Amino acid sequence: MPEVVLAHQVDFATWRKASRHFVLAGTLPESIFWRVADIGQEAAWSANAAQNLPTAPSGLNLSRRFVGVLAQALQAHDPDRFQILYRIVYRMAHAGLALTDTSDPDLLWLRQSVAAVRVDTLRFREVFSAFTVQGVGDVLHDVPEHYILEASSHYCIERNVRSWRVVTPYRRMEWAGGVRFAEGTDTVTDDASVQWQADGTGIWRGYGLSVLPPQRKDVDTAPTLALLAARAMDCRACALWQPASRTVFGEGPEHAAIMLVGEQPGDQEDLQGRPFVGPAGQLLDRALQDAGLHRDQIYVTNAVKHFHFTWNGTRRLHHKPETEHVAACHVWLNAERRLVQPALLVMLGATAAQSVLQKPVTISRTRSRLFLLEGQTQGLVTVHPSYLLRLRDEDSKQREYAQFVEDLRLAACYVAQRNDARTGIKKGS
Ligand code: URA
Repeated sequence: MPEVVLAHQVDFATWRKASRHFVLAGTLPESIFWRVADIGQEAAWSANAAQNLPTAPSGLNLSRRFVGVLAQALQAHDPDRFQILYRIVYRMAHAGLALTDTSDPDLLWLRQSVAAVRVDTLRFREVFSAFTVQGVGDVLHDVPEHYILEASSHYCIERNVRSWRVVTPYRRMEWAGGVRFAEGTDTVTDDASVQWQADGTGIWRGYGLSVLPPQRKDVDTAPTLALLAARAMDCRACALWQPASRTVFGEGPEHAAIMLVGEQPGDQEDLQGRPFVGPAGQLLDRALQDAGLHRDQIYVTNAVKHFHFTWNGTRRLHHKPETEHVAACHVWLNAERRLVQPALLVMLGATAAQSVLQKPVTISRTRSRLFLLEGQTQGLVTVHPSYLLRLRDEDSKQREYAQFVEDLRLAACYVAQRNDARTGIKKGS
């Protein structure tokens, strides 16, 4: 009986190599024994006898999406998962199993496992995200139901550039400029004898790509902003996700009265993972202050959540997002609006206005006045702060900046009056 030793619980690379090898050789599922090695003690299976294999009748062409499904199911906490997954692939190649067969028990298992892993992954990401925001200590202790930690390593790195450590009963994961893993533990002990292994073991490499991107219903049904942001981390709805370092999601209070929408993250935002933290963000902060507002009161986001750039030597040159990028990201903006339900939505520049209003907008004709959007939200269009940064002559700079502050003041007044009216109603009643 052939034995396949996997290097660790989520060693998808070895499982995939071995499965391909044995499916092509026509090896029956029940005749393979799968097990996980003691980490660092044993070498994983390798296909040194992989030559001259007979070809399976229908070949073995699995779509990238389906490979992602398999990788996700491999994280399920089920000791039989390696065999069941192999059996699915074997039956697809040799016995005509169709993925559309909704009553097949193996496919039912696959669907349920993927769903359970997704739920656990999103739960963990929400916990990690809160841990990052609170900035309390460097060690997060978590008890996942499934083997989900490795597949979230890229998420954790994107979310938090400080050093951190996550401890779970089955694995420890640490980031300090590089990812390292060690055996899990039930307690948060920092004992010096822990044997850390660098990412060279391949534990997490490639897993980012195997993680399934969120589906439309994940976006439309996210119950909180934290969960929505966690789901957006894997978005690949347009081509921008690949060259960009990360998804830069919106941030701010869950029920902020004002929501500001910009165009897309720039170089600094892409590196820091937060909207409006570069030069345009600094100018925006100053203008908000001059208008009597403060950034902490406002939910700040962008029409497009990934940085669009080309390399110029060692510099990344910003490019405007294309129509398809704005269209692909529109669902995220809508979901943010659904959750924040701002009283006033301020569109900074033409891209933001076009995304919100769903039609081309001329800023000079639309700016500086309030108008009703759907859902009781007022809209206000103004210029983008980058426009102010690009102005060359000092007079125009000052004039345009003053007008920008005036627009923000209009926003501040509207929200203040609305609050007064509400307080008045409460007092009167
Ligand atoms: N410009 C934007 O539109 N958004 C940012 O987050 C930064 C610069």
